[in-house]
Amino acid sequence: MSRIAYVNGQYQPHNHANVHIEDRGYQFADGVYEVVTIVNGKMIDEEGHLERLWRSLSELRIDRPMKAEPLKMVMREVVRRNGIVNGIIYLQVTRGVAPRDHPFPKNTAPALVMTAKRLSMNKAEKTAEKGVNVVTVPDIRWARCDIKSVSLLPNVLAKQTAKDNGAYEAFQVDEDGMVTEGSSTNAWIVDQNGKVITRPTSNEILAGITRASLILELEKKGVEFELRSFTVEELQNAREVFLTSSTSYVLPVVKVDEHVIGNGNPGSISMTLREIYRDFMNSAA
Ligand code: PDD
Repeated sequence: MSRIAYVNGQYQPHNHANVHIEDRGYQFADGVYEVVTIVNGKMIDEEGHLERLWRSLSELRIDRPMKAEPLKMVMREVVRRNGIVNGIIYLQVTRGVAPRDHPFPKNTAPALVMTAKRLSMNKAEKTAEKGVNVVTVPDIRWARCDIKSVSLLPNVLAKQTAKDNGAYEAFQVDEDGMVTEGSSTNAWIVDQNGKVITRPTSNEILAGITRASLILELEKKGVEFELRSFTVEELQNAREVFLTSSTSYVLPVVKVDEHVIGNGNPGSISMTLREIYRDFMNSAA
C-alpha cells in the first residue's frame, strides 16, 4: 500500500506531497506538531495530543486549522488510507504561507500537514529487552520548551551526538547540572530506594503525553513516585533509568555516558512500568 499524506485539504501520494517554499514553517520554523501513536489501528491519547496541540498553537497565536471533530476525521482517514495498524501519525500546523517577513502575516490561513508511518512492535520489543544507551549533552534550547514547536535544531544536534556515540538518545542538562529531558523523550530515574522520579512540567520541558499517562497509571497502581529535578550524578548512579515518548513508550536505559546502570540489563521496575504502559495502550486500543 503506497503512503498518502494530507496537505492542506488534499490527500496526496506521500512521495509527491509538497508545500509552498514560503510556508513559514520552512522559513521560520513557525509552527507546531504532534506525534500520536497508533496501536491496533487506534490512536493512543488522542485527546491529550489535541489538547497539547491547541495549547502550543495558542501560545504562538496561530489559529486552529480546523475544529476538533473534522481534525479527528482527517486523522482517521490518514490512518485508514495508509493502512496503519501499529505506527504513528505526524501532524504539523504552521502559520501558513506568506511573503518572508518576520512579523505575523495578516489574513493567512494556517497550513496543516499529516503523514503516517508504520512501526514494528516486534522491533520495539527487541530494543526494550536489551535496553538502550544514553549520553548527556548541555541543554542549549530556548526558554519555551513546553511548546511543541517544529524549531528542533538543538534537539537534532543532541540526537546526532547520541548517534555519533552509538547511543539511542541524548539527555539534556541545564546550567545547574540538572537533567531536563531527552531530545525527543522524557527522562526518568529509579533511585537506590526504588523510588521513581521524573522532572515536574514547566517551560523547561515538554509535557509528554506518555509521561502524563504513565503517571496516571502509577497513581492507579499505587506505585510511589516523585516529581522533582535530578542531577547528572543521580542519573549516572541511578538504580534504573528509563525514558518515555509516543514512539518509544517506556524504554529502559542501561548505560549513561560511561556509566553502566545496574547490571547493564533493563531494570525490573522499568520493565514492569513498560508492561503497565503496554496494558494501558492495549486497553485503549
Ligand atoms: N517527541 N520531550 C521532547 C522534547 C519531545 O520531542 C517528545 C516527543 C517528548 C515525549 O512526548 P510524548 O510522550 O508526548 O511523545 C518529550 C516526539 C515523539 C517526536 O519529536 O518525534
